[in-house]
Amino acid sequence: MPQQVTRLGIAFAVLAIVFVAVRQTLVPDTFGDAGHYRAAAVDSIEAQPLKYAGHEACTMCHRPIADKRSASNHSGVSCEVCHGPAAEHVAAPGNVRPRAPRERGFCPLCHGYNASRPSGFPQIDPVAHNPTVPCMTCHDPHAPEPPVIPGECRACHGQIASTKAVSHHAVLPCLTCHDAPEEHKATPRAVRPGKPSSRDFCGGCHAEGADSPPHIPGVDMATHGEDYLCWQCHYPHHPEAE
Ligand code: HEC
Ligand code: HEC
Ligand code: HEC
Ligand code: HEC
Ligand code: HEC
Ligand code: HEC
Ligand code: HEC
Ligand code: HEC
Repeated sequence: MPQQVTRLGIAFAVLAIVFVAVRQTLVPDTFGDAGHYRAAAVDSIEAQPLKYAGHEACTMCHRPIADKRSASNHSGVSCEVCHGPAAEHVAAPGNVRPRAPRERGFCPLCHGYNASRPSGFPQIDPVAHNPTVPCMTCHDPHAPEPPVIPGECRACHGQIASTKAVSHHAVLPCLTCHDAPEEHKATPRAVRPGKPSSRDFCGGCHAEGADSPPHIPGVDMATHGEDYLCWQCHYPHHPEAE
């Protein structure tokens, strides 16, 4: 037998002994009892004190504020996001008061300009936007109003509007294809307009023999791109037939 095999054998034996020793000494007792984790961890986590009470708890004593917030632009921002963990306050309201974030630095954590935020999310430049005065002087933190509600779709969807304006669909108002409630303009993320969902929608004007003016080109719905939605081939805001 070549020497190397003996050496390799010794090396493996040493490794195996080390492995068994480490397992015996370092792996906690309850590891593996209930899955690939330390079963006793559940008890120690359970024993930790609760810090957050949840916004339902606040409603009991602060109903007017809770109702106001639920109906506002901040309906998606929970009380304790701004006031910090408040379980102790719920248990003893007179003794522990949650902090109210009155300083100017707080609101820009969400509203300070940051290119990676979703399009349309209201953002300001905290340095230039009405400096030195606390945000609450002008905005109610429990019901911030959007400052000006734009009347036109173009105000926020400028790119789509400009694209459509030079397309074959220029004459079609946005509302022909989107049923957009007025509330969408005030709370665009909470209230979303509808979008066409089937081929038949476009067929309403473009199906051969449809009851539409003769200058609108018609297609045979049964054979024209029949396996796909129309907008998988035609951009609806700038449809082209080339
Ligand atoms: C059992 C009733 C009760 C519940 C539940 C309760 N609060 Fe209060 N809260 C009070 C009372 C009473 C005060 C006024 C305390 C004072 O003036 O010393 C208060 C005051 C406050 C204040 C004012 C602090 C300030 O600096 O002015 C905030 C903020 C607050 N609560 C937030 C919350 C939040 C958030 C929750 C839910 C997690 C909550 N509260 C749940 C009774 C309650
Ligand atoms: C966007 C952050 C934000 C959220 C969300 C928020 N608060 Fe406040 N809250 C504030 C700020 C800032 C103040 C201080 C207002 C001031 O001094 O004018 C305040 C003040 C308060 C006060 C004391 C002053 C008052 O108006 O009576 C209470 C009580 C309170 N909040 C409870 C709540 C409860 C309950 C909720 C959830 C339903 C909630 N807040 C959600 C930021 C917030
Ligand atoms: C002196 C009053 C005043 C103060 C203070 C103030 N704002 Fe405003 N805020 C306004 C007005 C007026 C508008 C609407 C005109 C504009 O966009 O500038 C506005 C608009 C906004 C908008 C909406 C922007 C958009 O494009 O939809 C946000 C978000 C906002 N403010 C957050 C804040 C925050 C955060 C602070 C504190 C750092 C703050 N504001 C301080 C008056 C104020
Ligand atoms: C945890 C993140 C968060 C914090 C903190 C926060 N906001 Fe907001 N704010 C939001 C969200 C989410 C909306 C709704 C945006 C939407 O509908 O697209 C909103 C909406 C607004 C609007 C309406 C702007 C518009 O044009 O629609 C104003 C004004 C505003 N917040 C001011 C404040 C002020 C003042 C504070 C500090 C007291 C604050 N916000 C703290 C998340 C936050
Ligand atoms: C105050 C700004 C604003 C105005 C005004 C506005 N929108 Fe929007 N719209 C938004 C925002 C923000 C979104 C969400 C975009 C996102 O999620 O990236 C949106 C989304 C949409 C969507 C996509 C919905 C979805 O679920 O994919 C449609 C369709 C739409 N808007 C149509 C319209 C029409 C039509 C009008 C005019 C009647 C209009 N919007 C006016 C801001 C606005
Ligand atoms: C001919 C019908 C038609 C017209 C007119 C129309 N849209 Fe659309 N729009 C659609 C369809 C279909 C979709 C869905 C596309 C998809 O799901 O890929 C859509 C999607 C959208 C979206 C979602 C984001 C995107 O680009 O896919 C927004 C926002 C939107 N439209 C806004 C508008 C606005 C604003 C106008 C007016 C300036 C307008 N639309 C006019 C048919 C139309
Ligand atoms: C309310 C009627 C109406 C609806 C609904 C409609 N269109 Fe159109 N479409 C038109 C009109 C009008 C024209 C322009 C005809 C002309 O050039 O005179 C047109 C033109 C077109 C063209 C031809 C472009 C070219 O280069 O000649 C295509 C492709 C098209 N639409 C696709 C669609 C799709 C896809 C939908 C569904 C998202 C749709 N249309 C929904 C009215 C409509
Ligand atoms: C698989 C891709 C595809 C799909 C899906 C599709 N189209 Fe087309 N469409 C085209 C192409 C490519 C042309 C240009 C060549 C032609 O006329 O066949 C065209 C042309 C058109 C034209 C212009 C016809 C003319 O005579 O000028 C209209 C209108 C049209 N499509 C409407 C629609 C409608 C409505 C739907 C959904 C029911 C749809 N298309 C689905 C690829 C597609």
